[in-house]
Amino acid sequence: MSDIRAKKPSDSEVVMTELAIPNDSNILGNVLGGRVMHWMDLSAAMAAHKHCNSICVTASIEGMSFYHPIKVGQLALLRARVVYTGRTSLITKVIIHSEDMDTGEKLLTTEAYMTFVCLDKNGKPRKIPSLILETDQEKAEYAHAEEIRRRKQEIRKQEK
Ligand SMILES: CC(C)(COP(=O)(O)OP(=O)(O)OC[C@H]1O[C@@H](n2cnc3c(N)ncnc32)[C@H](O)[C@@H]1OP(=O)(O)O)[C@@H](O)C(=O)NCCC(=O)NCCS
Repeated sequence: MSDIRAKKPSDSEVVMTELAIPNDSNILGNVLGGRVMHWMDLSAAMAAHKHCNSICVTASIEGMSFYHPIKVGQLALLRARVVYTGRTSLITKVIIHSEDMDTGEKLLTTEAYMTFVCLDKNGKPRKIPSLILETDQEKAEYAHAEEIRRRKQEIRKQEK
């Protein structure tokens, strides 16, 4: 039976902008990794909640890559969307570009795949809407996230 609540990845998209200020930075003047991850967690949690229309909790983070620092005074442009759905869990892809407001230069600085589990009122995992994939890029991102999930489940099985 088809899922009437099924949604497109773009339906969950969250765009968030942060200004990197000294309070966010390390002694090199770059935003702390922990602060970057906090911003990513927030934007991904909003994307997950929008997809499920229900509270979701962070279960794991895979493929966290810091390619370039975000410097104090720059903008951090975050973009998060749901790229994969399971039964009660989903995977969001989050990317950040830095923007130098003096020059307009943008740089891909950070990306990660963050898994969330949707919970019901009793805190138990709850079934979520599936994903409608339309573009080749959406299909490729789904396949990539599916592989991330497969590897994570293998690790979880070994840990039990
Ligand atoms: C995430 C959590 C709800 C999972 O509960 P659980 O009873 O182990 O869930 P289940 O084993 O029934 O699995 C439910 C789904 O979550 C997925 N899942 C569970 N733990 C996972 C993990 N560590 N990584 C990735 N996926 C995970 C399962 O694969 C399953 O997915 P599916 O339904 O799409 O097939 C529970 O471990 C928890 O509450 N963790 C703490 C969350 C938290 O505090 N986050 C930080 C603040 S938001």
